[in-house]
Amino acid sequence: MCGIVGYTGGREACPVLLDGLKRLEYRGYDSAGIAVFNDGRVAVHKAAGKLSVLASALDGVQLGGSIGIGHTRWATHGRPSDENAHPHVDCSGEIVVVHNGIIENYLSLKEDLVARGHRFTSETDTEVVAHLVEEAYDGDLAEAVRQAILRLDGSFALAVMCRHEPNLLVAARRHSPLVVGVGSNENFIASDVPAFLAYTKRVHFIEDDTVAVINRTSVEFRGLDGRPIVNNVHEVEWDAAMAERGGYEHFMLKEIHEQPVALRETMRGRLSSEHADVALEGLGLSDEDIRSIDKIVIVACGTAYHAAMAGKYMIERLVRLPVELDVASELRYRDPIIDDRTLALVISQSGETADTLAGLREARRRGARVLAVCNVVGSSVARESGGVLYTYAGPEIAVASTKAYTTQLMVLALIALHFGRVRGALTPDRDADLRRMLWTIPEQADLFLADYGDLIDCAERYHNIGGFLYMGRGPNLASALEGALKIKEIAYIHAEGYAAGEMKHGPIAMIDPTMATVAVSTKGRTYEKVLSNILEVKARMGEVIAVAGRHDEEIAKYADHIIRVPETDELLSPILNALPLQLLAYHVAKFRGHEIDQPRNLAKSVTVE
Ligand code: G6P
Repeated sequence: MCGIVGYTGGREACPVLLDGLKRLEYRGYDSAGIAVFNDGRVAVHKAAGKLSVLASALDGVQLGGSIGIGHTRWATHGRPSDENAHPHVDCSGEIVVVHNGIIENYLSLKEDLVARGHRFTSETDTEVVAHLVEEAYDGDLAEAVRQAILRLDGSFALAVMCRHEPNLLVAARRHSPLVVGVGSNENFIASDVPAFLAYTKRVHFIEDDTVAVINRTSVEFRGLDGRPIVNNVHEVEWDAAMAERGGYEHFMLKEIHEQPVALRETMRGRLSSEHADVALEGLGLSDEDIRSIDKIVIVACGTAYHAAMAGKYMIERLVRLPVELDVASELRYRDPIIDDRTLALVISQSGETADTLAGLREARRRGARVLAVCNVVGSSVARESGGVLYTYAGPEIAVASTKAYTTQLMVLALIALHFGRVRGALTPDRDADLRRMLWTIPEQADLFLADYGDLIDCAERYHNIGGFLYMGRGPNLASALEGALKIKEIAYIHAEGYAAGEMKHGPIAMIDPTMATVAVSTKGRTYEKVLSNILEVKARMGEVIAVAGRHDEEIAKYADHIIRVPETDELLSPILNALPLQLLAYHVAKFRGHEIDQPRNLAKSVTVE
């Protein structure tokens, strides 16, 4: 997830671009850059670090020019650095490109381009686009961009300029957001509306596989076949703050709703619609390495630890390797048994959590190979690990983690499938079934998020309850723990997450009408057992909210309220079960009138011990 902007009109471009980028900083903030045309020259300025670093460097510089493009980056390919910051240029420096998305086939494209003599100056996937446009350019930039994108697999929103057509911006998109703002004698390109809301509220929302040809007085759209497309202008009503959150009241709600896209991005290039084998670029482990491991130790904190717990069930069942789990603050002090046949799996959204980093270093010191599951490219965890599998969730702004969690689960499922296959622990049928089900998870997440009105009623009913007990079994013990954590984090209601079978050993004493129980009741190995655990709660006058499958008729006999989620394999169900649990916490907190995105006493990234 990055932010792109473009401007052409009567104003000086640089301040308009910087202003737009500022409003898109929530989409990425590890480096930034702009390119502006003036006097027949393209001036490119870029810098690693927050946008303020670039803005300071440009302070007092007279760039002139009234057309340009800009970018704020959230690294996916290539660490955050000046060289990897956008815009990227072709060999001649005459074609400039900014990009949001992931070009899946960039490695093979790059090999071809290098073989034909192109010189690359960055590690990014984006740079191939500049060189592809250069090859296709024959005096018509829009046509060259169209030809270039025909060769791209993956996702992109692009803005492109060329020195030979100094009044023109060309934009294109596939699976990454892109809007065009229409002003009077000026036009804008952006990843998202807030970038230009201060100048215009008139917007073209662009469909996939569209090329937009923009100058200061006109905007035209073409399809991949080069034919014109009609696209009507819409008038948006949001204020700037609302627009930054995509029309959502809080970042947390926006991020919950971004999960289908984040899950798709995380799957992209790793799993295919043909459901062939899983491809894990960046893994840093050969098949031989995978076969030589005799134990996996997972290190994480907070929500990432809950993802680790579900991962343990996936890996043990599908790979038949023992998995130990540790919160990082324990691992570092407990003298763990780790050696060179151990794989340390380190899970962290930020990649900067102090305890997690210390756990990683401890595992390395003892000879373990380290594989990270991380959301921030170039973070300390990513840099210090032998291999990294990124969760392509984009920046997570709300303190309570949502999309990072579900994408971590997605990566863990991919690891389990890959390792299971390499170690011969998975039958081909089971392997194929799970890959097929994993592939449909983003679609199922979309389906759930399209309609959850009952859940809001449920949140209203319980928002003043004295406490919550969350119970689950198997992989959904992780769901119970994560559901309880979400309620604690933002609703400030005491909640416990418990293994449902353990309720009778203590927590059941707490059951009375002031305590609600959330039972994660997914069909699977222990479904009947969870039903018995629900009966135990009901027998003590406890109210039960069940999270259950769409087609589960049985559950209606047991629970007071049922939140229904699409069905999948039990091992993958924590991904979908996370959605109602996140939303329940969100709406309970909202009914209680809390500050949701920045809850009291918490920090997004805990960089001290
Ligand atoms: C903090 C955040 C949590 C997060 C945990 C681990 O406590 O508030 O949301 O799960 O740190 O963070 P990490 O960045 O390592 O995943």
